[in-house]
Amino acid sequence: MAFNLYHFIKKITTKSSNIQIDYTKLPEHIAIIMDGNGRWAEKQGLPRTAGHKAGANTLKRITEFCNEIGVKILTVYAFSTENWRRPQEEVDALMRLLLEYLKDAERQLAGKNIAIKVIGDISVLSQEIQEQIIKTENLTKSNSGLLLNIAINYGGRAEVVNAVKQIATDVQNGKIQITDINEQLISNYMYTKGLKDPDLIIRPSGELRLSNFLLWQSAYSELWFSNIYWPSFTPKHLLKAISDYQQRNRRFGGI
Ligand code: IPE
Ligand code: IPE
Ligand code: MG
Repeated sequence: MAFNLYHFIKKITTKSSNIQIDYTKLPEHIAIIMDGNGRWAEKQGLPRTAGHKAGANTLKRITEFCNEIGVKILTVYAFSTENWRRPQEEVDALMRLLLEYLKDAERQLAGKNIAIKVIGDISVLSQEIQEQIIKTENLTKSNSGLLLNIAINYGGRAEVVNAVKQIATDVQNGKIQITDINEQLISNYMYTKGLKDPDLIIRPSGELRLSNFLLWQSAYSELWFSNIYWPSFTPKHLLKAISDYQQRNRRFGGI
């Protein structure tokens, strides 16, 4: 039923915007750097926090859309290890929004067969947020639809440091040998253990950088940039990114 409805909408989308998508060859794992909330708000004379609130709504819409079209994994950058440098007020507002998002996700996204996981060092977050993360993860973990990874207090370099420490500990206590260390093993010490690397990384807002996002996993990801601010990002932009992705030739070093 949902499938048929989707294909009906899909036809309209394809026709009206001229975006060609092959739904049998979707990127399995999409990652998004949700950037531009502050500038979106400032442009309208609103406080930056209004931009973050609007950005959270966009996330909800894009998550549901990815689930509907059959994307398997969506990883979103919500708060970096460097975002603590922002004014305390803004950090507090972001943390409040994340808590609200997780509570809301537990109520609404769980019923849509979406599984939610948080990646990053959550040990420094408030007790309340940590408990909510565990609650939301547990409640949604057996959902078989989209897996939504939310990166909170995530940094690609911090993730590598964390992996190196764990690998060193496991070598020290004899769980693994130095000769066991290879790319596959290192991947298994990352927060994204067991997941396919992102096929497509999307960054709105006009910045052309990764800002410490998925450094290990992005080795062969296709990158897609747009000037649109995250709160204005719609399923149509996502379809355009997917369509462009499908035109590319991924060689992985071959010919
Ligand atoms: C992204 O939007 C949200 C976070 C980084 C938490 P920004 O707040 O970075 O928005 P801009 O880049 O200042 O417009
Ligand atoms: C990246 O955006 C982090 C998130 C979107 C959560 P930033 O706004 O922090 O990145 P820079 O500072 O422009 O590189
Ligand atoms: Mg930014």
